[in-house]
Amino acid sequence: MKTPKIVKTRAELKAAIAAANPGSLGFVPTMGALHRGHASLFKAARAENELVVISVFVNELQFNDASDYATYPRQLDADVQLAAAAGVDLVFAPDASEIYHAGLPLVKLSSGALGEMYEGASRPGHFDGMLAVVAKLLHLTDPRRGEYRAYFGQKDAQQLMLIRRMVADLDYPVELRAVPIVRSPKGLALSSRNALLSEEEKEAALVLHRSIQLVADRAAHNEPLYIEDAIGMYQMAPLVELDYFAVVDPDTLQELAFNCQDTPFTGEGLILVAAKVGNVRLIDNQPI
Ligand code: PAF
Repeated sequence: MKTPKIVKTRAELKAAIAAANPGSLGFVPTMGALHRGHASLFKAARAENELVVISVFVNELQFNDASDYATYPRQLDADVQLAAAAGVDLVFAPDASEIYHAGLPLVKLSSGALGEMYEGASRPGHFDGMLAVVAKLLHLTDPRRGEYRAYFGQKDAQQLMLIRRMVADLDYPVELRAVPIVRSPKGLALSSRNALLSEEEKEAALVLHRSIQLVADRAAHNEPLYIEDAIGMYQMAPLVELDYFAVVDPDTLQELAFNCQDTPFTGEGLILVAAKVGNVRLIDNQPI
């Protein structure tokens, strides 16, 4: 197992990429606290690129809650070990002053109407801050030098949708790859925030996947979805506070009109759910 090179500055990052002079580069941006879900992104990048670069940067701009930012897990040494095992070549772990070298951005990217729905409604400014850092990280990893792919998890479905739009709207020369959700054996979608859950909360959090499965099974059998049944499951989960459970159009995020009615499900949709388990906000989703 080869230890990845760790670089802290944009100059070192640029020099390391230039020195490797790869025929293809796979980039995976992360906020650290890496788990098997990230490893699956790294492995997907490893499988089709000569050089695999990741970033580990907890981006304050995308946190609308100061205590969420303060308690977000940080563990660079363990992250580097996991990255090494998944075949990563280069880890960019900058300080905030390196990313926001001119101070916090005055000129901002707006995630528009898509960024104000669901996660954006509950976390105002989150998606604008996320796009700000992803836009920078894509630039800093030099997508114009040749074959370049960036990898994102399907778990953050709305984030992925917005990054797709940014890449298209701003003409980034980036091939985007979406990597499926990785789950615990019991079905909990892996997330860095899971580290903040107690054992009891982890059990309680399984309701997210169970409620999704209830509706996804009905969709698979072209039955009416009756999402009230899924929502009802949260009333019996005392540690869990549901924020939203919705079935939406996967391209527009508009709620599908038939999702609560007595109509057989046909076509395509995306189940989206967000809930607070104790103090930890979790999201999950599944295409149907
Ligand atoms: O998904 C994440 O971990 C973050 O939103 C990202 C894409 C690394 C930007 O900070």
